[in-house]
Amino acid sequence: MGLLTGKTAIVTGAARGIGKAIALKFAAEGANIAFTDLVIDENGQNTEKEIAAYGVKVKGYASNAASFEDTAKVVEEIHKDFGRIDILVNNAGITRDGLMMRMSEQQWDMVINVNLNFIHACTPIMMRQKQGSIINMASVVGVHGNAGQCNYSASKAGMIGLAKSIAQELGSRGIRANAIAPGFIITEMTAKLSDEVKAEWNKRIPLRRGGTPEDVANIALFLASDMSSYVSGQVIQVDGGMNM
Ligand code: NAI
Repeated sequence: MGLLTGKTAIVTGAARGIGKAIALKFAAEGANIAFTDLVIDENGQNTEKEIAAYGVKVKGYASNAASFEDTAKVVEEIHKDFGRIDILVNNAGITRDGLMMRMSEQQWDMVINVNLNFIHACTPIMMRQKQGSIINMASVVGVHGNAGQCNYSASKAGMIGLAKSIAQELGSRGIRANAIAPGFIITEMTAKLSDEVKAEWNKRIPLRRGGTPEDVANIALFLASDMSSYVSGQVIQVDGGMNM
């Protein structure tokens, strides 16, 4: 039996990157997986196939995590298809970097909105089940800040405050909420950084390497499973010991 056998997990933005690694890790531990992404294209279909190979139930849903309406609709659909929701990973996120003085309203709104989440739609279901684990994907820049990423770090700090508040609001209903703050993880999001920026990051990481999506997925598994049954309202940095 796996650590998540019999549980259903929603992972947002999981067609690729960290979200995909989390969905695969959860499936390997027996969870049924509902994942979302903006579109379910070839990437998403491949993710579906790779998850199905673990013999669990899986479905990818095209849904925009920035839309309140889309989110409510897709959670209702997932609940109908899967019958329950035990784990929610708010992973979908984007960057639109720039210095504050040059930042447009659109750059600000896009990042803040996408980095919002499914909590509002999922918690009534988790409350009826009297259990649930919510994991918000934050970032080390949400803890320490980062020049040129005011919009992104504000949204990631928001994910941390939100996890802590939900932990307090819904702990008595058996719902836990925590945040993961990854450092420099090698995915398509970070692939667009220049070689100089990457070299600079590596110098600041005591373990002297960028993290892998699996490094993050291992912590997500811990927080999703009963291994962390008495852990709530916490932020776990997955950053190779980086001290920003
Ligand atoms: P990625 O860009 O490789 O993957 C993100 C996925 O989310 C993509 O499949 C994308 O289509 C999807 N997505 C974007 N906007 C969406 C929306 N509105 N609705 C639904 N899906 C949407 O990113 P990566 O690196 O896998 O990041 C995943 C999460 O981890 C993000 O929240 C990111 O901010 C966070 N993170 C990543 C770090 C890194 O170094 N890669 C470091 C710290 C945090």
